[in-house]
Amino acid sequence: MEIVHGVLLVLHLIGWAIVLGGVVASMRSRTVPAGAWHGILTALVTGVLMVGVLEMGDDHVNNVKIGVKLLVAIVVAVLVWRGRKQEEVTNGYLGAIAGLVALNVALAVLWR
Ligand code: HEM
Repeated sequence: MEIVHGVLLVLHLIGWAIVLGGVVASMRSRTVPAGAWHGILTALVTGVLMVGVLEMGDDHVNNVKIGVKLLVAIVVAVLVWRGRKQEEVTNGYLGAIAGLVALNVALAVLWR
């Protein structure tokens, strides 16, 4: 189970890194990159699977923290989904996506 958890965590981190890197790199073109959608889906799916894997083992997750992270990730997914459909978005829009991803990184690491 530990190896499954490890692999999921690696994919989880790569997933949101794609979102963050993608939107920051797209600030010149002012578009939401297609990769951001795949990235947030990866982060969401691996995050939910990790909760299952941890709860099946001896570890437990902080459900309040996971709930807040899930909510923030859903808002990111909606923003990415809506932004993909627009030809151009503002840098504020891209910044909001980046900021919410950064918020979730902070929640993941600082909320113990
Ligand atoms: C943009 C969205 C997200 C970001 C930026 C993010 C960020 C992170 C980071 C940085 C870690 C590593 C923390 C550490 O090991 O100290 C982590 C772990 C984790 N995340 Fe996320 N996360 C996101 C969404 C989610 C969602 C939606 C869920 C579940 C519904 C989730 C569940 C988890 C779990 C279970 C771990 C592993 C904790 C452990 O191994 O003890 N994450 N996340």
